[in-house]
Amino acid sequence: SFYLVGIVILAYLFGSIPTAVWFGQAFYGVDVREYGSGNAGATNTFRVLGKKAGSIVMFVDILKGWTATNLPFLLDSSLVGNHDAPQFVNIQLALGVIAVLGHLFPIFAGFRGGKGVATLFGMVLAIHWPAALMCVSVFLIVLFVTHYVSLSSIMAGFTFPFSIAFIFKTTVPSILLYGIAICALILVTHQKNIERLLKGHESKIYLFKKKSK
Ligand code: G3P
Repeated sequence: SFYLVGIVILAYLFGSIPTAVWFGQAFYGVDVREYGSGNAGATNTFRVLGKKAGSIVMFVDILKGWTATNLPFLLDSSLVGNHDAPQFVNIQLALGVIAVLGHLFPIFAGFRGGKGVATLFGMVLAIHWPAALMCVSVFLIVLFVTHYVSLSSIMAGFTFPFSIAFIFKTTVPSILLYGIAICALILVTHQKNIERLLKGHESKIYLFKKKSK
């Protein structure tokens, strides 16, 4: 239906909001894509502009994924389909991934976006919050032990389908299928990070490092 097309476009536009780029340009006069890893994401904003900027970008990027995934509920869900039906989650999953694609290829920033981790997290949060909690836990543990955000993102990505399958034992196969697809997507967007990790060149992130003056 027209409504579904509209909602798909809206999800893409939401994901397309280049938070890192716009925030950096507006408040620091800096395009974060010209520094650090060159990525338009929360991690690189943290790296280039600091903790406060990174946290705000992370929050907004999570919100993008969450909002896109919940669009049918925020608008009139009855127009999309019966939201009590188990298949309804398929529409939500698709909208979440479309928002992530918007984040990766933002129409508002020359199609050069980020890696989609925060936006994926917002989507997972909207779909299955206990699994999202597992993902955050794994992310934080890996980050505190290794100080590699990329590795933490990859491990958190794998946590989603694993927890869905073995801990929460979902009966909705599409969540598991999307979970596996998300893992593949994270591996693709983190190719350069994986190369750097293997060579020992990946930059480390310290959440609680005192700034030396
Ligand atoms: O969220 C992206 C993160 O996993 C890696 O970012 O800037 O270190 O490539 P970055």
